[in-house]
Amino acid sequence: MGFPTIRPRRLRTTPELRALVRETNLSPGDFVYPMFFNAALDAPRPIGSMPGIDQLPISAAREQAKAIKARGVSSVILFGLPKTKDGCGTTGLDPDGPVPRAIAEMKSAVPELVVMADVCVDEYTDHGHCGLLRQRPGSKKENDWEVDNDATVEVLAKMGVLFAKAGADVVAPSDMMDGRVGAMRKALDAEGFQNTSLLSYAVKYASAFYGPFREAADCAPKFGDRAGYQMDPANAREALREAALDEAEGADMLMVKPALSYLDVIKDVRAHSNLPLGAYNVSGEYSMLHAAADRGMIDRNRAMMEVLTSIRRAGADFILTYHALAAAELLGG
Ligand code: PBG
Repeated sequence: MGFPTIRPRRLRTTPELRALVRETNLSPGDFVYPMFFNAALDAPRPIGSMPGIDQLPISAAREQAKAIKARGVSSVILFGLPKTKDGCGTTGLDPDGPVPRAIAEMKSAVPELVVMADVCVDEYTDHGHCGLLRQRPGSKKENDWEVDNDATVEVLAKMGVLFAKAGADVVAPSDMMDGRVGAMRKALDAEGFQNTSLLSYAVKYASAFYGPFREAADCAPKFGDRAGYQMDPANAREALREAALDEAEGADMLMVKPALSYLDVIKDVRAHSNLPLGAYNVSGEYSMLHAAADRGMIDRNRAMMEVLTSIRRAGADFILTYHALAAAELLGG
């Protein structure tokens, strides 16, 4: 049986019918709003490459938490810009650093807000890499650096505990060092933080779409690139391997990042793991959409909702997105 008996258009005739048969729905509760707290600021500072997104002073944390909650968004992820940086990312372990302070403020203003903290040294190192550096073993060349995986993992575990102590509900390592999930779980448990969840940036690609974030978090690597630790965009099977390893190490949730060029990877990871899965609709994806909309090339709101729907359709349970507040408003929040 086929046409003219079969007519798929019948179910598209009214908005109500379309809503009835819609396979994928978005709600403000699906969004995690990323925020940048800068210890050196007294007032918000717009991020030039990300229209509508600011670096924030710690003093804005309380009112922001309330405004976000009022929109129906119940999760945030925090990034920090410290006053000073060094080779080892020392300020990342400062209990008075921007992230621990912002966590405490937000949780005291809105206790039910799910506060996640990104765990990585790149925001705190002067060289901007996601790991501590060491001279390449055996190399005779001067300043022949490599990222020291195991030394970095020790610092990340401490940072995870620090953020948990400050009140974070979820700690989220974004560095792509091997073994960091297991080490963080062990450190959290040893300090009594059995109930602090771990969201692993399990599948994170070395992507050009992080461009605007490097202005937002002031963390562009001063030399080289991140291809030695982040994944090759050409690889999909490796994503399953990374996801399985982090699951075995005790991750509570997994993430694929970026989202839009990796919808196939989201679908693959979804099919192979029963853990909740997030996807990061990254800075470049956000800025491209705004740039095109500002030039009248696309309708911003429609493109935004289509993008977010596609990420959920691919299999993500939740989306880290700079569109969170604007999308929640459109959804009636
Ligand atoms: C690293 C980190 C990055 C992002 C989140 N965590 C940058 C990078 O790996 O280069 C990118 C997020 C975005 O582009 O929106 N701490």
